[in-house]
Amino acid sequence: MIAIKTERELELVAENARLLRETLRELVRRVEPGVTTAELDQWAERSLRAAGAVPAFKGYQGYPATVCVSVNDEVVHGIPSPRRVLREGDVVSLDLGLRRAEYYADAAVTVAVGQPAAEALRLVVAVLDALRAAIEAIKMGAHVSDLSYAIESTARKHGFYPVREFVGHGIGRSLHEDPQIPNFGPPGFGPVLREGMVLCPEPMLKGDDLPTRVLPDGWTVVTGGGTLAAHFEEMVAVTADGPWVLTEWIGEEIWGKRN
Ligand code: MF3
Ligand code: CO
Repeated sequence: MIAIKTERELELVAENARLLRETLRELVRRVEPGVTTAELDQWAERSLRAAGAVPAFKGYQGYPATVCVSVNDEVVHGIPSPRRVLREGDVVSLDLGLRRAEYYADAAVTVAVGQPAAEALRLVVAVLDALRAAIEAIKMGAHVSDLSYAIESTARKHGFYPVREFVGHGIGRSLHEDPQIPNFGPPGFGPVLREGMVLCPEPMLKGDDLPTRVLPDGWTVVTGGGTLAAHFEEMVAVTADGPWVLTEWIGEEIWGKRN
């Protein structure tokens, strides 16, 4: 069952999405050589709480932190640590979720520490393109797998591969609501999109087509071939006028301004 949000609910979700985007943007400004991933996490948690929100991931199925910080070949769910010091050239995915007034918000961006290598830049451009294609597929009457197809075909066009083991999702009163949104597959399948749905497409792309692995910490997902991975996620409402990007293209804004 895919929840349909009322106009009032959509306003609340949009407000939370704006708080999330501002927090992510400030978090990105704190990414620099020498900072630890635990320092980024602490800043994010304090900032959310000061705004009257609570971290959405902390405690979720036992996840121990506010942010997922996934570096280089880490795909998603990297656990912040005071021992993980960021270095020039690292490719860092920051995934942040919050809850405020009963509603969740969730988004992710990937940034480089200092100057990105050419391959890292190519990967980021590919994921941003895949996310844009997925968002453009969000319209009343479309099928969920139209997003999946948009992501996979865009990834392949750029010479990268989608992560198959993790999906995008609906969001609202729960962090993860129906439908699941795979990052691969043919178009025309799955539930039909209706006005008032809120979706989180989250393309995760990488340089190899091997299965991902989970590290012994039980969370950190890494690419099977040790290749770079990148991940972006935005929150999008289905409206009669097309996709309403509640997180206001935070991924594109960050890359437009930083690089
Ligand atoms: N954005 C991710 C998701 O939608 C983050 C979840 S991390 C977890 O699943 F710790 F909460 F699981
Ligand atoms: Co998500």
